[in-house]
Amino acid sequence: MTKTIGLICGSLRKNSYNRMIAESLTTLDDSAQYRWIEISSLPFFNEDLEADGSPESVASFRAAIQDVDGVIIVSPEYNSGIPGVLKNALDWASRPRTSSVLNRKPVGLIGATPGGFGTAFAQMQTREVLEAMQVNVLPFQKMLISQVHEKVDSQQKVLTDESTKRYLQRYLQQFIHWIDQAPVPVLD
Ligand code: FNR
Repeated sequence: MTKTIGLICGSLRKNSYNRMIAESLTTLDDSAQYRWIEISSLPFFNEDLEADGSPESVASFRAAIQDVDGVIIVSPEYNSGIPGVLKNALDWASRPRTSSVLNRKPVGLIGATPGGFGTAFAQMQTREVLEAMQVNVLPFQKMLISQVHEKVDSQQKVLTDESTKRYLQRYLQQFIHWIDQAPVPVLD
């Protein structure tokens, strides 16, 4: 069956390179369907909001994750770490702990930066956070895109670099194939 992949972008910037990369995924592989999962309208996580019944934006965010077979997070790195908006979204998705919509969900990580290290530090942190949430993160593969400003057409907002397109295609094929094999973590 055709898989449905949710795309989360860790940048809210209008001209975000990471959003351009995420957009490109939808054109690079037609063996899956892609859906945006937006995080911009989520409030700051607060247990008081949760106690009052989570806001509508949170409910639709969780439902969007529930509805897809896997999620790919395409995110920048801020100060060698996870952007706050992405961590906030992951915290909302992690609750309630025993029935988190991300529990067992296959997740892939991609990151792009104009810098030279391809968001490696942020991806390591994100992996650690997702592991704490008992999420299935695609093992071994790292999709790190450095010097992204040289690999896109910023006016057209499209990925132009052919070798990056090939890497992303291969990454997607591996991710889609792995979805059915993702291990089931045990809840404590
Ligand atoms: C950055 N940037 C950045 N880049 C990087 O490779 N490692 C880093 O640690 C940081 N730190 C950082 C902190 C803050 C607060 C900002 C605003 C930026 C640069 C960042 O990669 C660049 O702005 C990207 O263009 C952001 O991604 P989007 O919005 O283009 O997807």
